[in-house]
Amino acid sequence: MKMKKILVFIVLLLANAFVSSAQSKGEEMKLYIDNNEVEVEWENNDSVNQIIELTKNSDLIINSHRFGGFEQVGEIGHNIVSNNKQITTKPGDIVLYNGNNLVVFFGSNSWSYTKLGSIKNKTQSDLKALLDKNGVVITIKRENKTASIEINNISKESSKKDDTVFDLANRRVKLNSGYYMPTNGLGTWSLYGDTAFNSVYSALKAGVRLIDTAQYYGNEEEVGKALKKAIEEKIVKREEVFITTKVMPSNYTNARNSINESLVKLQVDYIDLFLLHQPGSNDESVYKALEDGVKENKIRSIGISNYYTKEAFDKVMSYATITPSVIQNENHIFYQNNELKDYVNKYGVVIESYFPFCGRGNTRESFNNDVIVDIAKKYNKTPAQIILRWNLQSNYIAIPGSSNESHIIENNSIYDFVLSEDDMRRILAINKKQRYANW
Ligand SMILES: NC(=O)c1ccc[n+]([C@@H]2O[C@H](COP(=O)([O-])OP(=O)(O)OC[C@H]3O[C@@H](n4cnc5c(N)ncnc54)[C@H](OP(=O)(O)O)[C@@H]3O)[C@@H](O)[C@H]2O)c1
Repeated sequence: MKMKKILVFIVLLLANAFVSSAQSKGEEMKLYIDNNEVEVEWENNDSVNQIIELTKNSDLIINSHRFGGFEQVGEIGHNIVSNNKQITTKPGDIVLYNGNNLVVFFGSNSWSYTKLGSIKNKTQSDLKALLDKNGVVITIKRENKTASIEINNISKESSKKDDTVFDLANRRVKLNSGYYMPTNGLGTWSLYGDTAFNSVYSALKAGVRLIDTAQYYGNEEEVGKALKKAIEEKIVKREEVFITTKVMPSNYTNARNSINESLVKLQVDYIDLFLLHQPGSNDESVYKALEDGVKENKIRSIGISNYYTKEAFDKVMSYATITPSVIQNENHIFYQNNELKDYVNKYGVVIESYFPFCGRGNTRESFNNDVIVDIAKKYNKTPAQIILRWNLQSNYIAIPGSSNESHIIENNSIYDFVLSEDDMRRILAINKKQRYANW
């Protein structure tokens, strides 16, 4: 009997030592929302222990975005062991979602999560003040480390925007240049000659007001002819159409002249958006030529394309005197670059999705995706419309390419339904960071 009591005592002692060591380790972790420290009661589980390990040598910095009306969610950048359970969260709860997303709640939701902890001593209105915004930077750091909190280095504070607002009722978004851009359009890559002409003309007739071309596509002339015809037939006025073109990589040394050539081919006296087509050794001087084009009233807004990381964006910002308005990147259900979107949102920069259907030759994969097919049935829409609507509700402009008039009409009919938060979340979870372009 005495022996049994001693054994129980030892077991309790060991269990207590284990719990307090995990708790004290957790207590070393500090959590900051932007640069505000909040007190957290961490759970004692394997997920938290893994995060403790991750913060041993460097801070964990998570760019999160508001999702639904109740949470901030951001990718951790590591796969964390999870032990998901269906739970209903409270304001202040911190959970792991899908093994690689940190979620902090200012409202509540029921889903399958692994609980990581809860913020202490904050009312729901305190939490809303901290979290109910487009994006925040969440930093988890160990107290015994001296590294300072690394908040995003915003070098051009003056151009900071709190929110990049998509006005879906009016099918447009206000750019940081002050001009409005339509939230969906027609892409014209690999459309040539009459096909390019007919597609652009059909799109304008169908009410599409954004046309995306590029010097590289070799179809600016056809785009210009179709626009001219639509204007002559009073289908549109020039000022109602938003024309994007891009400066060709081989024209980097000749960028100023190429702007004039685009104006001539497109038969317009200004370009709404001129993009630097991709990074290159000479991109600083090309960007300067685009800025000159703005000063000379030949270009209204400028942007960049194929810049995927914060570092690549920061490099442009290091020489830009005009902040880019748009980044046009490969972006689709299988490659959702939320980190970049959240980062550049601070500058009022909008992300435009190219390859919304994964690009010509790859569309089956996105159109046949189980989640997309299931949601399409539920809303009685096509997979293409679900994907495009998801773009709009995720604050991405989408420019599907099409040479088929009925597809063009279908792709423009995406404003008469709203995807629920749950369905948006299901599509968010499809992300597998898979790109199809190799440039
Ligand atoms: N900045 C860059 O480096 C860059 C790179 C690539 C593309 N882009 C731009 O992004 C645009 C979009 O990319 P993308 O055209 O290559 O690929 P995409 O839009 O992902 O896919 C185009 C494909 O989808 C099909 N499609 C379109 N609407 C459909 C519908 N409702 N139902 C079924 N199929 C449909 C098209 O076929 P149909 O013709 O039969 O409709 C075509 O095969 C380009 O056109 C271009 O303007 C930019």
